[in-house]
Amino acid sequence: MRTFGHLAKLRSRRGAFGGLTVGCAMLAALAAGHGQPSFFGKFLPNGVFFPNPNGASQTYSSNGGIDLRGPFFQSLGSNGRTCASCHTVADAMGLSAATAEQVFRATRGMDPLFRPVDGSNCDHDIDVSTLEGREAAYSLLRTRGLFRIAIAVPPNANYRVMSVSNPYGCNDSENLSMYRRPLPATNLRFLSAVMSDGRESSPLTGTQKITYGYDAPALLSDLEHQALDATLGHAQANEPGPTAAQLLAIAQFELGLTSAQSFDRGAGLLWADGAKGGPAALVAQPFFISINSSVNPLFPLLEQPGGLTTPGDGQFTPAIFHAFDAWANLPPRDSRAAIARGEAIFNSKTFAITGVAGLNDAAAQGGLAPGGIASIQGTCGTCHDTPNVGDHSFATPLDIGTGDPDPGDASVNLGGLDIGYLPRITVCKLDPNTGQPTSDCKTTSDPGQALIDGNFDHVGKIKGPILRGLAARAPYFHNGSAKTLLDVVRFYEKRFGLVLTPQEESDLVAFLRSL
Ligand code: HEC
Ligand code: HEC
Repeated sequence: MRTFGHLAKLRSRRGAFGGLTVGCAMLAALAAGHGQPSFFGKFLPNGVFFPNPNGASQTYSSNGGIDLRGPFFQSLGSNGRTCASCHTVADAMGLSAATAEQVFRATRGMDPLFRPVDGSNCDHDIDVSTLEGREAAYSLLRTRGLFRIAIAVPPNANYRVMSVSNPYGCNDSENLSMYRRPLPATNLRFLSAVMSDGRESSPLTGTQKITYGYDAPALLSDLEHQALDATLGHAQANEPGPTAAQLLAIAQFELGLTSAQSFDRGAGLLWADGAKGGPAALVAQPFFISINSSVNPLFPLLEQPGGLTTPGDGQFTPAIFHAFDAWANLPPRDSRAAIARGEAIFNSKTFAITGVAGLNDAAAQGGLAPGGIASIQGTCGTCHDTPNVGDHSFATPLDIGTGDPDPGDASVNLGGLDIGYLPRITVCKLDPNTGQPTSDCKTTSDPGQALIDGNFDHVGKIKGPILRGLAARAPYFHNGSAKTLLDVVRFYEKRFGLVLTPQEESDLVAFLRSL
């Protein structure tokens, strides 16, 4: 349990939260079992620190605090789950694998988090009647924080699923099982796409694309739709599910949340000495769709439905984060200087981006570069371009290879992540004339956007997520394949030939975990 021992360690550095709200932090630690801070009764005030392995995060609500009686925290379905079962305040509205394991141990796997509908590796041929059986059935949730997301292959897909090799027996090739991490239900006003594959912000599913000038109403309605789907799916509600008033309340509640790491074990308070870490600075962060879009730099202005243009296009700056600029000139050995150096690496270190569907291919260039652009000299911010947030400010699903299988052949899994625990799904493009599979095939653990729009060219495309509150919710990437932030950084080194010294690696990690 993340209780006193952990906090004692926190307090030993930098004089216990700089002497501020130590009492509050203490309370949070006491109440942090599965993130539902029952200790606070019905209202969780803004500013409470929730400990995590690197320090602590905070979640602010635009209502001055979180009403723990709201529908987000109520069981609206039939299996006992609430939204907060998988989106806990203590984990910055996500869920770390460590928390899942902790809840498993505390309840012997009987908490509603552990439900075979999507919490177990597969929903059939499992034995959940014994502790050992549950340990095995829920192993991906316990060790990687993964849920099974099943999505049917669209009938009009221009590819065919040739084979599914699922280690857990979920081999259905019409209804594919993928394994995904919960995306944090916070900082949502910065979203340009909802869900890893964008399926809750796509006309193909009856939801709306989040476009410039129409972003607020589209996002609100998408989040209501998402909350309905989550209640019918994860919480197994009977139709028609929650009321319109409950869905609206959930969406508005989520849009009012802002989360960030606020205290670092080495550096102390992340807004000390002029820095702008923590949620308070993020609350003031301006945003609109395409505010800093790095895609289609060739377009001066991108036409939107309704004749509006996106003012951000063509004005990209790679200097995405400014939270720790004020610490840049501290003595080099100060932990805060390391965070500022990491920020500078994120903002300015260039490397060659190659082979990324959604960026290097011809389609990504809107027909303006017919053969695509084989190599783009970019930075982390080429794909994480929203200022001080890090998701894409213009919806841009990308295949960076996190779902590429590793058959022991180094040439295939360029990123070197071990995804042997995930299924291998092989799909082949169909010949448009004969309707028969061609030899143009891809193997992946997760077809991503291609399962929503049926487009072979979109296999493996996943949205770049918001990069705040990371320390609260390991592991990383949609499939949990990077256990630590160092694994994330090493993925980029291997995949894109980014060259970092051990010091630079550790600085970049120090920065990421302070977000
Ligand atoms: C059983 C666990 C679970 C429960 C319960 C759950 N979620 Fe989620 N949530 C997830 C997972 C997993 C994803 C990512 C799915 C994907 O990308 O395909 C997700 C994604 C989301 C997102 C998308 C965020 C983004 O950046 O796109 C939102 C918003 C969200 N959930 C809100 C809710 C709400 C509201 C509820 C309650 C009605 C809820 N969730 C219940 C697991 C859960
Ligand atoms: C070519 C585009 C691209 C570049 C360049 C890029 N990223 Fe990413 N990043 C993504 C995408 C797409 C994802 C989501 C992948 C997934 O979930 O499988 C992601 C995910 C992440 C995550 C995981 C977040 C989470 O919640 O799991 C971190 C951390 C991250 N990137 C950091 C970085 C850093 C640091 C750099 C620079 C060294 C960088 N990225 C460069 C596209 C990119």
